[in-house]
Amino acid sequence: MDHFLYKNGVLHAEDVAIPDIAAAVGTPFYVYSTATLTRHYHLFTEALSPLPHLVCFAIKSLSNVAVLKTLGNLGAGMDVVSAGEYLRAKAAGVPGDRIVFSGVGKTRDEMRLALTGGIRQFNVESEPELRALSEVAVSLGVTAPITIRVNPDVDAKTHEKIATGKKENKFGIPISRASEVYAEAARLPGLQVIGIDVHIGSQLTELEPFEQAYLKVADLTRRLRSEGHTITRLDLGGGLGIPYARSNDAPPLPTDYGALIKRTVGDLGCEIEIEPGRLISGNAGILVSKVIYVKNGEGRDFLILDAAMNDLVRPSMYGAHHDIIPVAEPPVAAPTQEFDVVGPVCETGDTFAKGRDLPLVAEGDLVAFRSAGAYGAVMASEYNTRPLIPEVLVHGDHFAVIRERPTFDEILNRDTIPPWL
Ligand code: LLP
Repeated sequence: MDHFLYKNGVLHAEDVAIPDIAAAVGTPFYVYSTATLTRHYHLFTEALSPLPHLVCFAIKSLSNVAVLKTLGNLGAGMDVVSAGEYLRAKAAGVPGDRIVFSGVGKTRDEMRLALTGGIRQFNVESEPELRALSEVAVSLGVTAPITIRVNPDVDAKTHEKIATGKKENKFGIPISRASEVYAEAARLPGLQVIGIDVHIGSQLTELEPFEQAYLKVADLTRRLRSEGHTITRLDLGGGLGIPYARSNDAPPLPTDYGALIKRTVGDLGCEIEIEPGRLISGNAGILVSKVIYVKNGEGRDFLILDAAMNDLVRPSMYGAHHDIIPVAEPPVAAPTQEFDVVGPVCETGDTFAKGRDLPLVAEGDLVAFRSAGAYGAVMASEYNTRPLIPEVLVHGDHFAVIRERPTFDEILNRDTIPPWL
């Protein structure tokens, strides 16, 4: 459930009419709902209670500092994968002891930044990283708390580009070598092993792959303890999928996911961390765009929008589906028409949907892409020198621009001319 509903025939974000935001900031833009972010965060905390736990929002899915502050104020932790994300979490006022650092290629500079600024734990992904972190921690005279990410060799049954838990993927250490790697970690100075980390992929629409992975983590916990390691924390990653097409998707609910966690690892006495991104942010945001032209082609009609693949790349990159709805509520049983929904960028890949049945819309009308909060704004680019679009946060009946659209001057001034020109 989200808070983007029609009221009096007009799409609203909570109690704000979308056309009012469009009039204030122009199109296209992203708009996020505080109530939806809050609701989704609480679904997880409720699903995991009474286990001791921390829900660490995967910043990569939606990293605007105002969104992070909204979640941070509720008590959320943050999962970061770069120096930039770490600094965003800090800028949102999240204390270091609620920030976990994931990622397959952390640099020594990033390690130094987090060790100096405060960190809950590093999720280490390889032996070379273990050694680098040990060196950095020793050079700073501190101890780095770590988990080691294991690759459980489980098929997440999701899009191949976002599956991470098979042995051929670049992530984590093979679970079969865990004893060896944990033994090395225990020997290295400057490291304190506290737990195990696993993340098998994103947009999972079944629980069974999680179950397989978490059972393996439970076995590994017992084995590592018998080998003398202290395992007090399990980071179970993110990945729970969301319904993108309202008509037919029904991914598992956070309550079922929570019950699965309790069933598989709940009796180990560990503190549980999870790293959901999409389930918290995905349906908490929409992308609003305007129809520039309706173009009648040969055998097909094109809806040409002012948003393009540079603003929302998921359809071109993963063939992802986003529901597209008119901002003015269509009358019940209104006629529909099949459109190819496209943007103005100069390549055929700039297509949001092919042969999509939509209520009749005309030039100048507003449309909204649903479920665009996660991996939308964060993956945007300025391809075709199209300015990054604004982000707006709604709270009840008011809204604020939380990232402005840059001016063309700002964009052009970033380029500099070398002395010989
Ligand atoms: N933890 C780790 C270590 C991750 O790599 C990810 C996502 C998450 C947590 C959060 O996963 P989520 O709960 O959001 O599924 N750009 C792609 C998704 C990439 C996901 C990358 N890792 C998309 O638009 O579908």
